Amino acid sequence: MPMHGKRDDTVVHEREPFNAEPSPAALDGQRVTPTDSFFSRNHGPIPEIDPRSWHLRVDGAVDRTLELSLDELRRSFAARNETVTLQCAGNRRDGLIQVRDIPAEHPWGRCAIGTARWTGVLLADVLDAAGVQPEARHIAFAAPDVSQIAHPPQPYGGSVPVSKATAGEVLLAWEMNEEPLSPVHGAPLRAVVPGYIGARSVKWLERVTAQREPSANYFQAVAYHLLPATVEPSQTGAPEGIPLGPVSLSCEILRPGDGEVVRAGRTAVSGYAHVGADRTVARVDVSADSGRTWHQADLSEQHHPWTWRLWQATVVVAPGPLHIVARAWDDTGSTQPESTEQIWNPKGYMNNSWARVRLSVT
Ligand code: MTE
Repeated sequence: MPMHGKRDDTVVHEREPFNAEPSPAALDGQRVTPTDSFFSRNHGPIPEIDPRSWHLRVDGAVDRTLELSLDELRRSFAARNETVTLQCAGNRRDGLIQVRDIPAEHPWGRCAIGTARWTGVLLADVLDAAGVQPEARHIAFAAPDVSQIAHPPQPYGGSVPVSKATAGEVLLAWEMNEEPLSPVHGAPLRAVVPGYIGARSVKWLERVTAQREPSANYFQAVAYHLLPATVEPSQTGAPEGIPLGPVSLSCEILRPGDGEVVRAGRTAVSGYAHVGADRTVARVDVSADSGRTWHQADLSEQHHPWTWRLWQATVVVAPGPLHIVARAWDDTGSTQPESTEQIWNPKGYMNNSWARVRLSVT
């Protein structure tokens, strides 16, 4: 049985720490993902935090160090409610694993992504109250959950550039979908960093530090780096790779399911498309002949700047085995690479290759 209030059809990759994603059917067609269908990614046990004694500390290269209780945060800053998509950097890793094994990493499918309505305050407002000094280049987040995956084992952390932290889009949130944050999603307070890999949206946040360098935490300095394909992740002296921040353009097919049997004729296809940085999804193409001919999908409105766009299309399928593929385009005219072979990387991050489902058509 799934735990932490998740739906029964949730795919649990690991119970402790809890790592789980919803089924494609649970995600399909919902612009805002119900909390019971929202993926959860944890690197260590959920920490036990007493909200009455909990404080957020804001320190480092600031004019004033702040210690704020949840009540003080709520009282001192304007509340904001934003709809934001979070996507794990390991989303769609199972496609990369089919190219070559990626040991010790979860084989996330297509649903380590979700969109929620987050309520909290702007990190920019809190940093403004603390007065970030000019030498600060990065804002580091620290949490108390100790991860045994890290070398050496250490509490979870990460950072974002000051420009992102002060841009007026990063939230310190205490509510998800109009409910208080649940323990598994980071209660009492978490960062929500729109457009960045989920790893930077640090849960159980207890410290925000303005500093010259990016966080030295394992999950910023070592993990979540895009390594060249030829590198052994554990190799000493290996190149560091690209530290991941903004999420690249990708899309997925949520219906029909991979391996499904469908009848010949018109078939409805639907899914999501998402891109980070300051880009937006501009178009999604769907093909029922592995990319020889393309149909343009209908896209949901972009109501909020930091959310995915859902799409749907109807294609005609002929009897036999076939692949339906999809690719998104963003507002800079960029699109996705076709194959997983071209983008395989040793830790299995950022699989932004075309979406693909195999069907048997009868
Ligand atoms: N924050 C802490 N403290 N510990 C973690 O393990 N995992 C990160 C991020 N924040 C993590 C964390 C990762 S990799 C992701 S993708 C998101 O949380 C997932 O958020 P969710 O579990 O609420 O879906």
